[in-house]
Amino acid sequence: MKNQPIGVFDSGLGGLTAVKELQILMPEEDIIYFGDTGRVPYGTRGRDTIRKYAAQDMNFLLRHDVKMVISACGTISSTCADIGAALPVPFLGIVEPAAEAAAAATANGRIGVLGTSATVNSKAFEHHLKKLLPGCSVTQQACPLFVNLVEGGFVAKTDPVLQLVARRYLEPMIENDVDTLILGCTHFPIIAPVIRSIMGPGVTLINSGAESAHRAIQVLEAQGLRTDRKTAGTASYFVTDEVQGFARIGSQFLGRELTGNVTKIDMDSL
Ligand code: DGL
Repeated sequence: MKNQPIGVFDSGLGGLTAVKELQILMPEEDIIYFGDTGRVPYGTRGRDTIRKYAAQDMNFLLRHDVKMVISACGTISSTCADIGAALPVPFLGIVEPAAEAAAAATANGRIGVLGTSATVNSKAFEHHLKKLLPGCSVTQQACPLFVNLVEGGFVAKTDPVLQLVARRYLEPMIENDVDTLILGCTHFPIIAPVIRSIMGPGVTLINSGAESAHRAIQVLEAQGLRTDRKTAGTASYFVTDEVQGFARIGSQFLGRELTGNVTKIDMDSL
């Protein structure tokens, strides 16, 4: 079991921010990534649809005998928090690890959360933050346009469209004097440079995908599930839309060339 791959999934490309960190922390582990690029975005959909899609995504990973499932998607992790409970392998979402990192980082108790509409409506981050720091103030902002901009490759810090949208979304964060900002959607770390340029250097940005990778290593170690291989692990990517765009933008997410097979699959044929 311990030499089986780690399964990571997201509605699209965003979960690669977790893969990037997993590969830094545990380079010898194999990874299977599933990005539902044919049905992204999830964050503008209703809870039942998100739940149905997430269950299909996880079944795909389980068919590949993964030893752990990571929901590297804020939308799924916040709207379907219990979805991993019945899995035969450990399951991790991104809400708790990111909330814990934010609670540890804040000095003024004023925390911001950026996410999809579904994530913000679920109030999952707020709920966890208030459990950890009962007196804290939480400012949430839904940023659905960010997902489309990122999936479309509008990620350059100098992109005027991205800057305009980011300024609008970040206004409440500045007004409420947040000192810690959770990027509660795994698509957002790739546009961290523009967020940082607007928020200023004094604000701590929490990369929720990366935080989940840090938690994953703890869970695998605690359960004796770290691979005993000493050689570099492999990564295989599965998507539900064309592979070309995925490999190109995926490289930006990983911060290096995306190597490993990218395979397009048809959900209806599974
Ligand atoms: N990466 C997903 C998340 O973390 C979201 C994008 C979407 O499908 O709307 O919420």
